[in-house]
Amino acid sequence: MTENARNMDGRVVMITGASSGIGAAAARLFAAHGAPVVLMARRQQQLDALVGEIEKAGGQAAAVPGDVRRGEDVERAVETALERFGRLDAAFNNAGHATLGQDLHETPDDDFDAVIDVNVRGVWNCMRHQIRAMLRTGGGSIVNTASTAGLIATGVGAPYVAAKHAVIGLTKAAASEYGTRGIRVNALAVGSTLTEMMESVIDRAPGIEKKFFARAIQQRFADPAEVAEAAMWLCGDASSFVTGATVPVDGGVLAV
Ligand SMILES: NC(=O)c1ccc[n+]([C@@H]2O[C@H](COP(=O)([O-])OP(=O)(O)OC[C@H]3O[C@@H](n4cnc5c(N)ncnc54)[C@H](OP(=O)(O)O)[C@@H]3O)[C@@H](O)[C@H]2O)c1
Repeated sequence: MTENARNMDGRVVMITGASSGIGAAAARLFAAHGAPVVLMARRQQQLDALVGEIEKAGGQAAAVPGDVRRGEDVERAVETALERFGRLDAAFNNAGHATLGQDLHETPDDDFDAVIDVNVRGVWNCMRHQIRAMLRTGGGSIVNTASTAGLIATGVGAPYVAAKHAVIGLTKAAASEYGTRGIRVNALAVGSTLTEMMESVIDRAPGIEKKFFARAIQQRFADPAEVAEAAMWLCGDASSFVTGATVPVDGGVLAV
């Protein structure tokens, strides 16, 4: 890919789940390629530290602490993009919540609610407010973080498999509705990536990584930055003819 295709100069991007893992890696990468970034997650301290780091490196960033389950928090993040940077060109809806895989009949209702709420309602809240802002400026690009579990039953908990399937459904529906109005919407089918979420799973179930690698062609975890690269491609003009797609970044899990 040419440097030009990777150019995000002045493209205002909102990133959720930016306080750690894939979202934080995306914030660093997008900002390093010239995008002013609006960062959302619940932990303010982590967001403030990341904003400081990006600004020190010459980038532009704003932190908006909030919960994607709350529409008003998401709206505040979109408003911040408009007030601070004048527009919203792209969004990486990446905040997610997973629970350890458990037999369906033993999974507590609270786990189901939490997983569906963060992953599905979160993306729903984000897209509703982001699309409203993007329509005002003639379009944009939205990328939702799904998972290989959005396409197959990977062995993680059933609520997570259901939630990520729903993220892909929302992605296709929004891509179809807004395609003629300049908005592209895509999803990432992310495979096992070494982040806080994954570390907490490994802590609770030592040795589980073997299970994750069993299906993969590349027998390793992704680095969060590798996933962020795909998100940046989908947010930028280099992917101008891609919409409604679910792009695997999974070390080949879905290929075999
Ligand atoms: N790691 C993997 O192997 C893997 C595989 C497939 C898909 N994914 C997906 O990748 C995405 C990023 O996860 P990650 O692996 O980077 O894990 P992570 O490091 O734990 O990041 C999750 C992020 O989501 C944020 N978040 C969680 N609940 C939130 C809420 N209610 N409101 C706002 N932000 C919230 C967290 O921030 P706060 O706690 O500060 O709110 C954090 O920034 C998720 O959608 C996950 O499902 C990960």
